[in-house]
Amino acid sequence: MLVHIPAILPPDLVAILRARLDAVAWADGRITAGHQSALAKRNLQIGPECAEGRELGMMVLHALESSPAFMSAALPARVFPPLFNRYDKGMEFGTHIDNAVRQIPGTGSRLRTDLSATIFLSDPDSYDGGELIVADTYGEHALKPAAGDMILYPARSLHRVAPVTRGSRLAAFFWIQSMVKDRDRREMLYDLDQSVQELSASLGEDPALVRLTGLYHNLLREWGEL
Ligand code: NI
Repeated sequence: MLVHIPAILPPDLVAILRARLDAVAWADGRITAGHQSALAKRNLQIGPECAEGRELGMMVLHALESSPAFMSAALPARVFPPLFNRYDKGMEFGTHIDNAVRQIPGTGSRLRTDLSATIFLSDPDSYDGGELIVADTYGEHALKPAAGDMILYPARSLHRVAPVTRGSRLAAFFWIQSMVKDRDRREMLYDLDQSVQELSASLGEDPALVRLTGLYHNLLREWGEL
């Protein structure tokens, strides 16, 4: 399931991130790539290895915590501190699958990557190419949403970033270990939660809705692990 969450970062935060990312010393993106993906990866990156990367990553994390859409779709148990990447003209990331397990920097603990997330930071009109292309059983999906939008997709998916042919593409990216490891169960909970939200907006207080909400939480109690 691909989930597109519009405006997960407000425009003022996107502007701050872009301005501060303009001033950082970018490193070769292969520093966090596995053996196979290093061969396919040509981009620039910053992350928690530098103080500025850590601080900007925390700003993104705080924004995620106040997003009900993100909480509902990801049911996060652990979130990897966001990293940032930049693709200039001629840069791309060929087809790969993200590593299954990631060491969380500076904590000694690890995270299973159930979901991969990209938050786009550049206006789509400001660059050509650079689509995030995710494959699932229905084929390939090319994604190039507005600045501030998030694309959330199963980390088990083959994906790539198409070559940038004009301008620069800035993004934040990270991984999530979900409380619900099983993808089908997570998607059913998401459907149920979205339906309950829509019904409560139109029906207001309703005893059947209270029972459905209870069912959601009881299923999460049954299937969720912290
Ligand atoms: Ni990837």
